[in-house]
Amino acid sequence: MNIIVTGGAGFIGSNFIFHMLKKYPEYRIICLDKLTYAGSLSTLEPVMDKPNFRFAKADICDREAVNELFEDEHPDIVVNFAAESHVDRSIEDPGVFLQTNIIGTATLMDVCRKYGIKRYHQVSTDEVYGDLPLDRPDLFFTEETPIHTSSPYSSSKAGADLLVMAYHRTYGLPVTISRCSNNYGPYHFPEKLIPLMIANALADKPLPVYGEGLNVRDWLYVEDHCKAIDLIIHKGRVGEVYNIGGHNEMRNIDIVKLICKELGKPESLITHVTDRKGHDMRYAIDPTKIHNELGWLPETKFADGIKKTIKWYLENQKWWKDIINGEYQNYYDKMYGNR
Ligand code: NAD
Ligand code: TYD
Repeated sequence: MNIIVTGGAGFIGSNFIFHMLKKYPEYRIICLDKLTYAGSLSTLEPVMDKPNFRFAKADICDREAVNELFEDEHPDIVVNFAAESHVDRSIEDPGVFLQTNIIGTATLMDVCRKYGIKRYHQVSTDEVYGDLPLDRPDLFFTEETPIHTSSPYSSSKAGADLLVMAYHRTYGLPVTISRCSNNYGPYHFPEKLIPLMIANALADKPLPVYGEGLNVRDWLYVEDHCKAIDLIIHKGRVGEVYNIGGHNEMRNIDIVKLICKELGKPESLITHVTDRKGHDMRYAIDPTKIHNELGWLPETKFADGIKKTIKWYLENQKWWKDIINGEYQNYYDKMYGNR
């Protein structure tokens, strides 16, 4: 089995590659990644020399380059993680989100059609469903929840999902889509809430909580997400959407306080800053479908996952310090300097 994993030099894609190479040593895994600010070859270092792994630097919007790779590798399955993924960046500059997330997805699927792929899997997000009110804890996102986006990021992901379903209905492309809640774990880029707070707390820097910090996210350990995608590409029904989430809702402020506690840092580091524009209040996934059909359940409890994650950031400081000390510093100054 030959699998092309796009965006595999980023957070979830790299974890997925590690999972697949370990579980299926007989598969060939090809990572296609543009290596934007969010992708790094240092992340893939542990697998770079494996004979059944190949890295190809390319943009999913570059039809010729994608064609060439398919010509070489004749993949059976494509799993598309490649995306611009940070909501705050999408608010500053939506253009690249539309380009990569929508045009890139269409380009990739065109090439999949040409080469008669067995499965195209689109890694999507629960953010396509918009948000839920804090005073209705009985409400959850199901696969039937209407698409109702808030940010340029979620709109671009929703646009991609609609195209994926259109390619299935119009051209018969064998697709599946997964919509997952917030992930955390190793190799999470330090612009996102959990790694940013760990890095800042370790440096005794202010912990910038947007608004009151009452927004709720449904956190899932990245390995559980990877296992769900593994199940979907092997056993999921073509043309179907599967929600992935762990019934693990937490308020941002409580996550930040927990990180302070685990690291032995004072809560006085917490600084409330200007809220995100259009900030979604609550995400909460109903994972009944993937549980009933594929037997998936999250395995890592948040209390354990957050400890493992913090330990990883403590033991792998070079990985994230190289990022923080590089070009990322300009982004941080721009986003948080006058907030
Ligand atoms: P990430 O930002 O860490 O990684 C994205 C990767 O895609 C990087 O390696 C980057 O170099 C690559 N990339 C970007 N543009 C590209 C292009 N044009 N061509 C080829 N490669 C390109 O993202 P992530 O957090 O790992 O998310 C992966 C996927 O999962 C995304 O599609 C995202 O929407 C989705 N998702 C993420 C979360 C989450 O909590 N992080 C939750 C649900 C869904
Ligand atoms: P983030 O990790 O960007 O993921 P998403 O926006 O996709 O949910 O943010 C998670 C939550 O944390 C979100 O409600 C915004 C909030 N947040 C902060 O309060 N401070 C920060 O510095 C960041 C990056 C996020």
